Amino acid sequence: MEIQGKVVVVTGAGRGIGAAICRRMAADGAAAVIVSDRDAAAASDVALQIGGTAIACDVAVESQIQNMVSDTLNRFGSIDVFCSNAGITAKGGLDCSNADFQSLWDVNVMSRLYAARAVVPHMIRQGGGSLVHTASAAGLLTEIGSAGYSITKHADIALAEWLSVNYGRQGVRVSCVCPLGVATDMLDQDDPIHRYLQLHAISAEDVAHAVVDGIRSEQFLILPHPEVAEFFALKAADRDRWLRGMQRMLQKLTRSSERRPGTSTPDRAAA
Ligand SMILES: NC(=O)c1ccc[n+]([C@@H]2O[C@H](COP(=O)([O-])OP(=O)(O)OC[C@H]3O[C@@H](n4cnc5c(N)ncnc54)[C@H](O)[C@@H]3O)[C@@H](O)[C@H]2O)c1
Repeated sequence: MEIQGKVVVVTGAGRGIGAAICRRMAADGAAAVIVSDRDAAAASDVALQIGGTAIACDVAVESQIQNMVSDTLNRFGSIDVFCSNAGITAKGGLDCSNADFQSLWDVNVMSRLYAARAVVPHMIRQGGGSLVHTASAAGLLTEIGSAGYSITKHADIALAEWLSVNYGRQGVRVSCVCPLGVATDMLDQDDPIHRYLQLHAISAEDVAHAVVDGIRSEQFLILPHPEVAEFFALKAADRDRWLRGMQRMLQKLTRSSERRPGTSTPDRAAA
């Protein structure tokens, strides 16, 4: 699908990757870009920069997604591309609170289900459309420092696969964007795993570029870091070896961050 003349909705678009996707969609000639975020002021700023339309929406609340979709359809008559991009992270493993796990589940997974429920019937009626989920490489591999992020990003990809299988033949194209580190506010300098991700981080604009290419070529997996395909193939080929590699990487990251904070350079092949 080409972006020219299309109506595009992007969630979590007040900053970071979502804002970059909006800028890119506007530059590529979208007829309307709906800049949506729970932070209404941030969404308005981005919308003002690109001549888009800001809609405040907390994606964890289904009625807010339904209202945004019906407002957009009333105003512009169509939704061709819906980017479920808003996402959060929370550190921790078994110690992560139930409340944090629930928020991760609501924002990173349920929001995608709410969006699909609201827009898929419309996309089928109009003869097609594109659903884009910003998942993460953590959904194909894992994120060592966050159990909840890893689990919910895997679930997001599972939902996207299910949507593709069930609605692909009715014209609904589904894509999953799975970057490693991206230089946005989400990366935390005080976290050794995030410092590692930062070493190989790309820009939000690089991700937006990959998203537009992926929509154009109707790719399911959009991998702005091409090495993720290689890591995923290694994991699929020998899960036990991959797990041992990840265990070694955790050990290295923890030791090097204890010795020299901010300077860890673990073995990339371990992923
Ligand atoms: N930054 C990375 O390294 C990285 C890597 C892989 C995947 N991702 C994914 O990319 C997506 C965008 O992340 P980012 O790096 O741009 O983060 P960010 O923190 O810079 O921006 C996230 C935006 O989402 C909004 N948001 C958060 N919760 C929301 C909610 N409930 N409803 C509506 N908006 C909400 C925030 O207000 C913010 O504007 C996320 O899904 C994230 O998991 C990020």
